[in-house]
Amino acid sequence: MPRYQSLRGTRDILPGEVEAWQRVERAAREVATLYGFREIRTPILEATDLFVRSVGASTDIVRKEMFTFQQSDDSMTLRPEGTAPTVRAFVQAGLERTPGSDRLFYIGPMFRYERPQKGRQRQFHQLGVEVLGSDDPLVDAETIEMLLAYLERLGVTGTRLLINSVGDAECRPLYRELLSIFLEPRLERLCEDCRRRSSENPMRVLDCKNESCRVALEGAPTILDSLCAGCREHFASVRAALDAYGIPHAVDPRLVRGLDYYVRTAFELVSDGLGAQNSLMGGGRYDGLVRELGGRDIPGFGWALGLERLILLLPDGPAAGPRLDVLVAPLHAGARIPAALAARALRRGGAKALLEGGERGLTAHLRRADRLGAAHVLILGEEETSSGLYTLRDMRSGEQRKVPAGNLAALAGEIQGATQENG
Ligand code: HAM
Repeated sequence: MPRYQSLRGTRDILPGEVEAWQRVERAAREVATLYGFREIRTPILEATDLFVRSVGASTDIVRKEMFTFQQSDDSMTLRPEGTAPTVRAFVQAGLERTPGSDRLFYIGPMFRYERPQKGRQRQFHQLGVEVLGSDDPLVDAETIEMLLAYLERLGVTGTRLLINSVGDAECRPLYRELLSIFLEPRLERLCEDCRRRSSENPMRVLDCKNESCRVALEGAPTILDSLCAGCREHFASVRAALDAYGIPHAVDPRLVRGLDYYVRTAFELVSDGLGAQNSLMGGGRYDGLVRELGGRDIPGFGWALGLERLILLLPDGPAAGPRLDVLVAPLHAGARIPAALAARALRRGGAKALLEGGERGLTAHLRRADRLGAAHVLILGEEETSSGLYTLRDMRSGEQRKVPAGNLAALAGEIQGATQENG
């Protein structure tokens, strides 16, 4: 085994795999653009306090999953998620005043110190979208519809949409109180984490996967019964819009999400194809977050999807690598420079050309072209370099023809077209 290995919970994305990544990223950019979203790229490193303030001091992410380190007096954290950095950048750059900057998307690595397993890593990647400045329930539904349009474009099926309303500052305190009262006589039956959660933020207990906690919660009051009129109406409008779009969804009153900034709509897309880590995507509304991070009091809504998990669900296996149009094969030492110039001319004309080194025999070159899946081989032997007429071999038919050295850029267009048609 080589001495240096990638760290536990991190992975290399190798050629052969990277093509699937490129495909999902390309589709994400296309769909996001159709819906009026613009890309934002924020630093991977942020002030620790940004996440403490937004994600919440009592959440699992902040309590035990952040990669945090100290440099002189600064505490820095590798971003565990993308919403807080996006909102920070939005406020910092005054994007509220820049028309067309209220719908943002990002693609990039996030870091959480979790126990690695299928679909769960310490460095993972998210595609995230954020809409800033609107509390219209139609925004919630439209942004969810966009997510489904994206999955449809990729051919991903078999996901289920779970949705809930987690209330707001008006109605949530009362619900917490009711839940605390319910939990009080059942504390003994809760896991250690949940006993702590029940005093810090009892709604977190609803999220626990532990069987004894789930049983203890049977008959617990649900947030939906405690919603204030504004939240109830908002939730009903989101659901009505989803219905109008024809988007099936199930209400899950225990869905609370693991981050503190949510109000009103909270939702997840789950898939049985993912195993224990069945959440493909999570999101919701975060109306107080912009103000919390120093901006004006404007609402927000968004979601983020785990790209590793998405790739597990892609219908067709690994995508093929790009096809090689032509392998340029010098047969003797004096052909090396002409071969290099030929490869340059072909590439300038748009053909994917690979320049072979060495002075192998023709048979060895052809064998290699076969292995690489090259559509053509450009042969430069003694006769070719002295006449300036190179031999082009079509690897599929075996036919050969002469092509003038000065005409390679034009030939590139022809070769490339043929490869695309055939490939
Ligand atoms: P989240 O639910 O913490 O939400 O993460 C969103 C998605 O990221 C998950 O559904 C999952 O697919 C993926 N994910 C999370 N942790 C891991 C991991 N350790 N390994 C692999 N994939 C993982 C957020 O991050 C919010 N910022 C979403 C949001 C955006 N809310 C509003 N706007």
